[in-house]
Amino acid sequence: MKETAAGERRVSATPETVKKFIALGATVAVEAGSGDTASCADASYTDAGATIGSRAEVLADADIVLGVQGPAPDSLAGLKQGAWIVAGLNPFGERERVDAYAQLGAEALAMEFMPRITRAQSMDILSSQSNLSGYKAVLDAASEYGRAFPMMMTAAGTVSAARLFVMGVGVAGLQAIATARRLGAQVSATDVRAATKEQIQSLGAKPIFVENVKGIEGEGTGGYATEMSDEYKAAQAELVSSHIAKQDIVITTALIPGRAAPRLITDAQVATMKPGSVIVDLAVEQGGNVEGSVAGEVVEKHGVKIVGHKNVPSRLAADSSALFARNLYNFLSAFWDKDAGRPVLPDGDEIGDAIRLTRDGKVVNARLL
Ligand code: NAI
Repeated sequence: MKETAAGERRVSATPETVKKFIALGATVAVEAGSGDTASCADASYTDAGATIGSRAEVLADADIVLGVQGPAPDSLAGLKQGAWIVAGLNPFGERERVDAYAQLGAEALAMEFMPRITRAQSMDILSSQSNLSGYKAVLDAASEYGRAFPMMMTAAGTVSAARLFVMGVGVAGLQAIATARRLGAQVSATDVRAATKEQIQSLGAKPIFVENVKGIEGEGTGGYATEMSDEYKAAQAELVSSHIAKQDIVITTALIPGRAAPRLITDAQVATMKPGSVIVDLAVEQGGNVEGSVAGEVVEKHGVKIVGHKNVPSRLAADSSALFARNLYNFLSAFWDKDAGRPVLPDGDEIGDAIRLTRDGKVVNARLL
């Protein structure tokens, strides 16, 4: 389906995945113009074997509806009972929508609830999209920064390397470190999960870590972070204060599932940075890691630019769509039932139970009840 959310440039199926679905035995219909903003023209879908139609035409017979974001329920008139809606459904943020999907009789499957198990790694939209966000955050920082990243020795004198600090070393943070290193910055990074220290070092960056404080391990379930103790938070704030005052670029990516993003940088800390420095807050849509960051805007505070782009993966729509579409294909093909001619999610399967939000007119996901 064509995405309708403001600023959404991605598409949930590419000619590549359309071909693969057809090879499995599926019939694929693509809403006209779906891939226009992601370098996938309608003709490339028809070449891959899909038909192109209006929303009503593509919905009429659909057993499975694919989206990047959840479609507006009032745009789903004519949807079959029991049809699957497979997309990033933002279940906590769009709770009313989930109720509406249940009322429509749809089976809504939220891809961001994919469990973090080995079997599901290739289906994980959070990872595939965060990876590209981490990369793009560094490019966004570089383009806002009025200086160069690498050290350069020129006949006119030396340009010194930018100092770049990454806060939150999950999937996005690791890619940000790797990208910044490639551009020649001097990189350091921190996280609450002690396990990331070695990962930071292996990418050639310097770990900045709070030592000897209770609750240091910082790891909750599924490899995610947990809320930290007050003692830890105070020690972290002190360490960060002295470190960020010396940085040219800071990229923050810290998230805690199901909660607002942790506040990592205060306005007073921003004020200690040199004029011309840049902060990119990748958590801006979850409440922000940086005091003063504004979703969808680049603001300037104390001479420091704070970049708060929304939907960063959408800023690389061709690649993010390609990966997103493969995540959906990897999921649906793993459960493909040849006899049924469609995927079947058996009851009791860890993946199905984790991502299924609605069924038979009801909300059924334990995280939403
Ligand atoms: P995320 O997007 O939820 O959070 C980003 C980072 O922020 C995390 O590393 C987190 O520890 C950190 N953070 C949270 N609070 C912080 C604070 N106060 N200060 C500093 N940092 C803070 O995490 P993401 O990127 O989704 O990945 C988390 C983990 O899950 C990683 O270890 C990753 O390798 C693992 N993972 C496992 C998968 C699998 O097995 N299928 C798939 C994807 C990721």
